[in-house]
Amino acid sequence: MLSRLSLVSLSLLGFSASAVAQLAPELVVYWGQSPSERPLADYCKPGAGPDIIPLAFFSSYPSTDWFGNVDSCNLTTSTTQSSECKTVEEDIKYCQSQGKKIMLSIGGGGGSVQFDNMTSIQDLANQLWGMFGPVQANYTGPRPFGTAVLDGFDMDIENPDSAFSYAFFVQEMNQLFETDHSKKYYMTGAPQCIVPDANMGDMMFNGKFDLLYIQFYNTPQCSARGAISGYNPKDGSLQYFSYDAFQEFITVSFSQSKGAKLYIGLPASPDAADNDENYFLTPDEAAKLINEYRYHPGFGGIMLWDAGSSDQAVTNGCTYSQEIQSILKTGRVCPKKY
Ligand SMILES: *[C@@H]1O[C@H](CO)[C@@H](O)[C@H](O)[C@H]1NC(C)=O
Ligand SMILES: *[C@@H]1O[C@H](CO)[C@@H](O)[C@H](O)[C@H]1NC(C)=O
Ligand SMILES: *[C@@H]1O[C@H](CO)[C@@H](O)[C@H](O)[C@H]1NC(C)=O
Repeated sequence: MLSRLSLVSLSLLGFSASAVAQLAPELVVYWGQSPSERPLADYCKPGAGPDIIPLAFFSSYPSTDWFGNVDSCNLTTSTTQSSECKTVEEDIKYCQSQGKKIMLSIGGGGGSVQFDNMTSIQDLANQLWGMFGPVQANYTGPRPFGTAVLDGFDMDIENPDSAFSYAFFVQEMNQLFETDHSKKYYMTGAPQCIVPDANMGDMMFNGKFDLLYIQFYNTPQCSARGAISGYNPKDGSLQYFSYDAFQEFITVSFSQSKGAKLYIGLPASPDAADNDENYFLTPDEAAKLINEYRYHPGFGGIMLWDAGSSDQAVTNGCTYSQEIQSILKTGRVCPKKY
């Protein structure tokens, strides 16, 4: 009787601090595409919010000299480092000194990364490893971020062309990771929330991912907003929140990614998801969602698109990234101190 009473009072508190510490959920925030964003290092200062920052985007392959851009740093085949890229190099090193993980994201909404054959898959994997992986004495090609060594690579493939070839690319990258055990390299991905995602479903089954940042926006039929309000999309289709369906799909026995941690992807401001549906969750709505789903199998944390947008959605003096980090750490919105 007594123990039952104490259980009731515990559950009234919402959740216990030890459960949160055990799960240690993380915040992932993309950087590199917002016109209004601050320098990368600003987002890595103590209390800024993000734990993991994918740099957006390496967007084009094959291509002779134009591979993409990360903020104002152009990723090109030139071996001369621009001053803009030098700044990003220094900021990556600062971020890593603060315990943050910095990855390079491949693809993006306007991206076109395509493979015609196995040779071109291996060529790109080796090229990216040379450009952004460990400094290799026998590699003489471009290193846009100088001696900064990234913590991994992210696949944000939003285009069905070449869909069945990407798994081989992921396998190549994982093999390259095995050549350097001085640190852990991560393979991450940002699929859409439809189960299975047409562009990334095969890749996630046949290539091994460590972390998956599911975009629970863009697609009205499966967005996070559906979990909050049962919001009805403009096209009249039924809306459901597909976290649990995605988790069941990715953990079937033959899936290479069955051990992946899953992150709920959200827009970081009302304008961040580029279409006319309302996908933005207020901090209170996000708290309701997170405090329920933090106990669901596979939960790794939250992903936000993107850093610049987060600065546009300030409440109680906290950016949206700070709001979400506060909820992940304490269960409560800002300005609760932690
Ligand atoms: C980066 O490349 C784009 C496309 O070629 C170009 O418009 C832009 O001026 C370049 N930026 C810098 C800083 O070199
Ligand atoms: C493989 O594809 C690349 C372009 O993606 C092309 O340049 C190359 O010639 C192809 N190689 C073979 C053996 O078909
Ligand atoms: C550099 O040398 C290592 C070890 O011999 C080899 O595995 C790797 O393929 C080489 N990389 C390049 C770019 O030649």
